[in-house]
Amino acid sequence: MSSVLKVENLCVSIDEKLILKGVDLEVRQGEIHALMGPNGSGKSTLAYALMGHPKYELVDGRISIDGESLNELEPDARARKGIFLAFQYPVTVPGVKVADFLRHAVTNVRNPNRKEGEGLIPMREFRAELKSRMEELGIEPEFARRYLNDGFSGGEKKRMEILQLAMLRPKFAILDETDSGLDSDAVRFVSEAISRLAGPDMAIIIITHHERLLEFNRPQHTHVLLAGRVVERGDARLAHELHDQGYTGVRQRHPEAAAEEQAAADAGNRQPAAAR
Ligand SMILES: Nc1ncnc2c1ncn2[C@@H]1O[C@H](COP(=O)(O)OP(=O)(O)OP(=O)(O)O)[C@@H](O)[C@H]1O
Ligand SMILES: [Mg+2]
Repeated sequence: MSSVLKVENLCVSIDEKLILKGVDLEVRQGEIHALMGPNGSGKSTLAYALMGHPKYELVDGRISIDGESLNELEPDARARKGIFLAFQYPVTVPGVKVADFLRHAVTNVRNPNRKEGEGLIPMREFRAELKSRMEELGIEPEFARRYLNDGFSGGEKKRMEILQLAMLRPKFAILDETDSGLDSDAVRFVSEAISRLAGPDMAIIIITHHERLLEFNRPQHTHVLLAGRVVERGDARLAHELHDQGYTGVRQRHPEAAAEEQAAADAGNRQPAAAR
C-alpha cells in the first residue's frame, strides 16, 4: 500500500515570527507535486519544517506519515521514515568524500535501528550500487572521490543531490531548487534525472521557478503559497499558468493574503517580488 504524508494546519514560526499560518497538504507516494508561490511566501520554510530543522518551530498542527505523527522526531529519524530534503543551499563538508557520505547516509536509512559506530553496508555491495546509479545518471566516476560540496559548482551540487536521491530512494523527496544559477545543461540534467527516478515508490515535491523542470515532470498537484497560506490548488495547468503570468492574478484573487505579504515586506522583510 502506498504511504501518505499528511500536513494538517501547520503553523511554523522562526524567531517568534509566524511564517506558516495553517498549511494543509496531502502527498501520496508516487505523486509529483509542485509547490509554488512568490519569493518569501514560505516554500522553503515548509520544506525545512517537514524535515524538522530545529530553527523552525512548530507552533500548531501535525505532520504525519500513514497516521503516525512526526512532530516530535529529529531530522535523522524523519529521514529514516522516508523524508528527504535537497537543500536550496547545501552545506560544504571538507574532509568527507562523496562516496563515504553516501555510504553512511544509505546505511542509516536502510538500517533504521543501527547504532552509531555499527557496521556500514558492505563496501563491495555499496560500490557496485553507487557505480550503477552514477552510470544511469551519467555522472562521471571521479565525482564519488570529491570532497562533499567542497568547491562544487551549482551544477555539481545538483548532481550530488540527485545522486543522494537515487541512492536513498526516499518515499517523499522534497526538492527545493534555486531559481537562478543553473545553466540549461544543469536544468536538463535535473529534469531528466527526476523523471528517471520518479516512480510508484517515490513522491516528489518540487519547489521551483523553472518552467522546464515542471514541463518535463508534470505535477498532478500544484499548491500555491502566499504569505504562509496555501491560497490555490490545481494541477499542471496551474503551474504553467503561473509561470506564464506570474503572481499578480493570485494576489488579486486573494487580497487578504496579499495584504499580509505587503505588511510583512513593509515591516522590513524581503521585498515581495512584483515580477513574479
Ligand atoms: N532563518 C530565518 N530567519 C528569519 N526569517 C526567515 C528565515 N528564513 C525565512 N525567513 C522568513 O520567512 C519568510 C518565508 O521565507 P521562505 O524562505 O520560506 O520563502 P520562499 O517561499 O522559500 O522564498 P524563495 O522563493 O525566495 O526561496 C520570509 O519572510 C523570510 O524572510
Ligand atoms: Mg525558498
